[in-house]
Amino acid sequence: MFRAMAEKKILVTGGAGYIGSVLIGQLLQQGYFVRTIDNLSFGKQPLEAYKLNKHFEFIQGDITNRNDCKKAVDSVNAIIHLAAIVGDPACKKQPELAIAVNREGSQNLLDTAIDAQVERFIFASTCSNYGKMSDPNGYVDETTELNPVSLYAELKVEFEQKLLNLLDTNLTPACLRFATAYGLSPRIRLDLTVNEFSKELALGRKLEIYGEQFWRPYCHTSDIARACILAIEAEKSLVSHKAFNVGDTNENYQKKTIVEMILKELPKAKDNIHYVSK
Ligand SMILES: NC(=O)c1ccc[n+]([C@@H]2O[C@H](COP(=O)([O-])OP(=O)(O)OC[C@H]3O[C@@H](n4cnc5c(N)ncnc54)[C@H](O)[C@@H]3O)[C@@H](O)[C@H]2O)c1
Repeated sequence: MFRAMAEKKILVTGGAGYIGSVLIGQLLQQGYFVRTIDNLSFGKQPLEAYKLNKHFEFIQGDITNRNDCKKAVDSVNAIIHLAAIVGDPACKKQPELAIAVNREGSQNLLDTAIDAQVERFIFASTCSNYGKMSDPNGYVDETTELNPVSLYAELKVEFEQKLLNLLDTNLTPACLRFATAYGLSPRIRLDLTVNEFSKELALGRKLEIYGEQFWRPYCHTSDIARACILAIEAEKSLVSHKAFNVGDTNENYQKKTIVEMILKELPKAKDNIHYVSK
């Protein structure tokens, strides 16, 4: 690691979230100064472990508020933009809020970052941008056409396009299309496939599984955090105005495979599984 890089100040938006609270830990461990802005939709507890760290700064604020963004971007070298209304169900439930945060809040952050001469802007995008594939057994890469089928993915694609077409600024933008995350975090999410299945079966509950044959890409929270750090450390020409999938070809799983893996640890849960054909 370059010492000069580690002395830089990084703004993580949405740092109290599932991925953000893991990422902050890794950045601090590597010697970065870390600031986060979060409106604490899920509480403050995920940041508890960092609050006494002298390299950590917390702004309780909202990216839809331009003044909060100005404070957050002041004198930072790079931004990792995670704050969002996350996932298809959450955006479908509150479409106006999703548009306010994911479109207008992201734009606020970008405008203030350009004004403040921030060097790099990494955007947390999603594999959902690819939508439903014509060949369900095929693979996608970054050259595959995007086909968003939800408001969540439409807003991600829209902001990606804005960043990738950004001209005449000193800012280096890059987009990371995360696979579905799994694994532990100070703010655990139990609505994501691997975590949800593990929890339900560990608690001895019945689990109904729809579409057990469908494939999805997955990635561990700590690997997603590592990808974010790689994106701020990489040479500018390697990442500038580019989008990258964050996942691994070997981490594409069908739901039934995930269930089988959990059953190896919890064999008694076998009778609690019910595949629903649809
Ligand atoms: N978790 C996944 O599987 C996954 C997959 C692909 C992409 N992503 C993307 O990664 C990012 C982080 O996802 P996550 O799973 O950690 O979600 P999360 O919901 O756990 O975290 C989001 C954080 O943003 C904060 N936030 C929301 N609105 C805000 C606002 N207006 N101002 C300030 N803070 C606000 C929330 O309080 C929360 O702490 C998101 O952009 C998401 O779209 C996540």
